[in-house]
Amino acid sequence: MKNKFLFGTATAAFQCEGNLNSNGRGKCIWDDVLLNDESVAKYNPETASNFYNLYEIDFKLANEYGIKSMRISIPWSRIFPSNENDINKNAIEHYHKMFECMKKYKIIPNVTLHHFDSPKWIVDNDDFSNRDNIVKFKKYAEFCFREFDEIEMWGTINEMFAYSHDKFLKKAIPPFHENDMYGMINHFYNMIIAHSEVVKSFKEMKIFGTIGIANWSNLFLPISNTKGSILASDKVNAMYNWFSLEPLLTGMWTNKTLMLINDVLKLTNQKFEIRKEDIKIVKFASENLDWLGINYYNTNHVDEPEPVTEIVHNSTGEKGKTKMNISGFFKQVKNPFVKTTEWDWPIFPEGLKILIKKISDEYKFKKDIYITENGYGNKETLDPKTQTVKDYSRIEYIQQHFNIVDALIKQGINICGYYLWSHMDMFSWTNGYNKRYGLFYVDFDTQKRYPKQSALWWKEKSDSGILIETDKSKKLANE
Ligand code: BG6
Repeated sequence: MKNKFLFGTATAAFQCEGNLNSNGRGKCIWDDVLLNDESVAKYNPETASNFYNLYEIDFKLANEYGIKSMRISIPWSRIFPSNENDINKNAIEHYHKMFECMKKYKIIPNVTLHHFDSPKWIVDNDDFSNRDNIVKFKKYAEFCFREFDEIEMWGTINEMFAYSHDKFLKKAIPPFHENDMYGMINHFYNMIIAHSEVVKSFKEMKIFGTIGIANWSNLFLPISNTKGSILASDKVNAMYNWFSLEPLLTGMWTNKTLMLINDVLKLTNQKFEIRKEDIKIVKFASENLDWLGINYYNTNHVDEPEPVTEIVHNSTGEKGKTKMNISGFFKQVKNPFVKTTEWDWPIFPEGLKILIKKISDEYKFKKDIYITENGYGNKETLDPKTQTVKDYSRIEYIQQHFNIVDALIKQGINICGYYLWSHMDMFSWTNGYNKRYGLFYVDFDTQKRYPKQSALWWKEKSDSGILIETDKSKKLANE
């Protein structure tokens, strides 16, 4: 395992690049709301972590701290700023230089084509709610495959579900709709077709390398054995997990999943139907997917819902603020035995095991699996004396998830790597600069990077190639 397992870190362009007006970039879904809409604007994305200019510093740190691969995304709005024919040569040159630099520091790029950042010209035309945009995304992907032939690992879309959910259900991504279940399913379904089309192009164009997807994968468990609690977890898993995993891995939805989805849609007199003309492409993509990426952060416990819907998103890190009760669907409840982060995210590594076992045993997926995101978000300050952050909770969190990955590998499951979210501190979409995930602390005023204790610990894990706790890594986790 030592040489094969990829120890990686993850980023997303809009969250780290900054420099929104550089090199002819076009606006994306976030620009206007974050920069102009005072009711939404909680932070300014213009600076971010200045990755656009400082990438070499970050790749150098990666090389020094045992990071072998990095997930990064290319923003569609930099490559095609205003329409599908408007190619931005400056941006293309920028990314070639950046990939060259990754090569210099021996970092394998794992490149995502879409990470929560549709261009404004696509959003003005209804983003993925509009099927016409599928072909535009396919054109963009094909352009990138042809242009960036130095890339070996491609990912289509980051978390199709979260992007759709947060736009239509949770009021967290523009256009900030609440509880629009059908809107969400329609957008999500079109993204699955867009992903499938891109996999097809990749294979038909005989592109060198592999293609996969980083899929939103957080689990829901019933809080008790009551019928109501079990039904709530069945419904929410069907919509939040199986609705994407089934087509991605098997090429078709099961009747049980469709029934549960339609049970929820019935509340608003709507119905989801698969379009016959899409069946072939979804099947093709599932058979040709090279790897599955799992973005796993938490498992929530659920129960039978209350009659009045209430959705409160914790965007401040004020513990206990989250409320998720959707009438006729499910209610998120706190399990007193499970620790949570300041943002109410339950720390439950066991959920990762349950999910991966299902993927392997039930969906019979035997190709490469990567954990493409997993991480611990926290409010952190730099200790001026030691110039570091003693982020023991993060180390503990990663170690617990490493233990699960290790056990699964020993059972013969093909997990090939783990990407920590995130490489350096960046801003978080709905939380701004307050929620830090990085191995490297970023002083957002000076843009200087400081390795946290977790970075030292990480280096030891990567150098040894041993996922479970060793005497050496235990020492670093407590120093
Ligand atoms: C994932 C996204 O959903 O979770 C990332 O792919 C995101 O872009 C990460 O930042 C953590 O979420 P949050 O809301 O804490 O930033």
